[in-house]
Amino acid sequence: MSRIAFVKDALSPGAYVPRSRAGVSIEDRGFLFADGIYEVCEIRNGGLVDEQRHLERYESSLRSLRLKAPMSRRSLQLVLRETVRRNKVQNGVLYFQVTRGASRRDHAFPPASVSPTLTVFATPVDVAARDAKVASGVEVITLPDERWARRDIKSVSLLPNVLAKQAAQDAGAYEAWLLDADGNVTEGASTNAWIVMDDETIITRPLSHDILPGISRSIVLEAARHLQINIEERAFTIAEARSAAEAFLTSSSAILLPVVGIDGSVVRDGTPGPVAHRLRAYASGISQISDAHLPSI
Ligand code: PDD
Repeated sequence: MSRIAFVKDALSPGAYVPRSRAGVSIEDRGFLFADGIYEVCEIRNGGLVDEQRHLERYESSLRSLRLKAPMSRRSLQLVLRETVRRNKVQNGVLYFQVTRGASRRDHAFPPASVSPTLTVFATPVDVAARDAKVASGVEVITLPDERWARRDIKSVSLLPNVLAKQAAQDAGAYEAWLLDADGNVTEGASTNAWIVMDDETIITRPLSHDILPGISRSIVLEAARHLQINIEERAFTIAEARSAAEAFLTSSSAILLPVVGIDGSVVRDGTPGPVAHRLRAYASGISQISDAHLPSI
């Protein structure tokens, strides 16, 4: 049962509160302008998966949007662990978000005295349901990518992603792959996109402002290097994806899920492929899982 959230804002110096009553001001800029950033980190066996990489991306998002850090990195690490511990989550996801704080509504930044808002919560995942998706594979649909030009920043401004995910769900699919003006896949609404060629070369879009630098993407690339699987970081078209040997997607909540259908047509024989399977197994093994306690300094 996950019931405790952490909130630090203008009204609270930082407290663990019942999640059902945890709240922030209606003038919070996250609420008014989506003026904030977030992270989602897998919790495995009570530990945080690839915590350092998530913290680095978090700090990069803060810098990109000129957001103040709500606390030191070490204090944040303590809060993240304590949130997982208090909720007794063994397998799940940890969510944390920072906004520019609460202030009189004005598009420009609030006065320097306004403190950022930090919220943290942990949610268990249904491991059996996730494993079933790994075994069966998932379907994706394709849609035009209508997002802003800085998709590399993990901003909470996710309206196009929300609409794309809902369209996928309405079509009975798991994810929407988003297409740029040239018909190339950028990424999924909440996942990175990959295809596998007949010679087992894996292809994924290179990092740029066009896509989020996924943590699982970086781990899967490492896994591929260890497994001596050839990697091509380049844009691929949806036509290539339809005729690929395999396709898959990556994200922290599921690591890697095989994609067995695109816009209603099957990828190869419509079952998860061997390369996706090997990469997932290897990637799970090389992720760093944090200790429940931080070593003292
Ligand atoms: N989504 N691309 C987008 C647009 C994402 O939102 C995400 C993550 C990813 C994969 O990144 P990572 O491997 O670091 O999880 C790619 C998270 C899980 C979410 O919004 O819930």
